[in-house]
Amino acid sequence: MDDMIKKAAKDIVNGRHVVALTGAGCSVESGIPPFRGKGGVWEKIDPMKYAHIDYFMKEPEDVWRVLIGEMKNVIDRSKPNDAHKGLARLEEMGILKTIITQNVDGLHQLAGNIDVIEFHGTFAWLRCLKCGKRIKTSDVDMTEIPPRCECRGIWRPECIFFGEMIPYMELVRSREEALSCDVMLVIGTSATVQPVASMPLVAKEGGAVIIEINAEKTPLTEYTSDYIVQGRAGQVMRSIVEEVEKLKL
Ligand code: APR
Repeated sequence: MDDMIKKAAKDIVNGRHVVALTGAGCSVESGIPPFRGKGGVWEKIDPMKYAHIDYFMKEPEDVWRVLIGEMKNVIDRSKPNDAHKGLARLEEMGILKTIITQNVDGLHQLAGNIDVIEFHGTFAWLRCLKCGKRIKTSDVDMTEIPPRCECRGIWRPECIFFGEMIPYMELVRSREEALSCDVMLVIGTSATVQPVASMPLVAKEGGAVIIEINAEKTPLTEYTSDYIVQGRAGQVMRSIVEEVEKLKL
């Protein structure tokens, strides 16, 4: 593992344009379960129901009950872990340019990263289905379910549900970053959801070194990643950033 940590740190320091792509595995050590694999959210609830826009529009009350139980309460209790802090330190050092994240927990921003592309939107904000007003999720009283705006329209989270398009600007910017980076850190993603899962392929085609950080191998590992630093994201990122600090002395 040590050699891989040193190799990753060297590639990152030598990078001219470093970008990170993060998934749910980056937030597991903050107490937020992943979607797939052992203890994954989708083992308990059906994503094609509770994470699909059609079912939300049909049964908003039912979906909101699950969103509060499985997401809001968990995110409210979560704090950035060493993976988020490591990425924030890399941006602060002027090494990491952008994070493309699939996560909706806002932990990258909380850790201090400025340039974050929220590919699947965010749970930190809600939008009224009737008048379009936006509000911070933390400012909404959730005693009434589904929560409603003053105009009595239903609040919807600004996450991208299955069945919805990825916001165009996020898509364009992510492709631009993937094409122009020369190092991409791919942290804690099963690389199963498109189009975000193709960003490492785009980066690879652009000549980037793809460094995967994951607790286990993924479809990327064999065909796209240059190498995997296998382990928990928090632990691995802490060690890599410590090594980067030494190289930058
Ligand atoms: N450290 C590093 N990697 C981890 C850790 C950890 N502590 N724990 C789990 N992992 C890895 C798993 O091995 C898996 O590869 O994180 C990945 C989590 O995969 P998913 O749960 O599928 O999360 P993600 O890839 O982000 O899902 C993509 O699917 O349901 C949609 O919109 C949802 O954004 C999500 C998208």
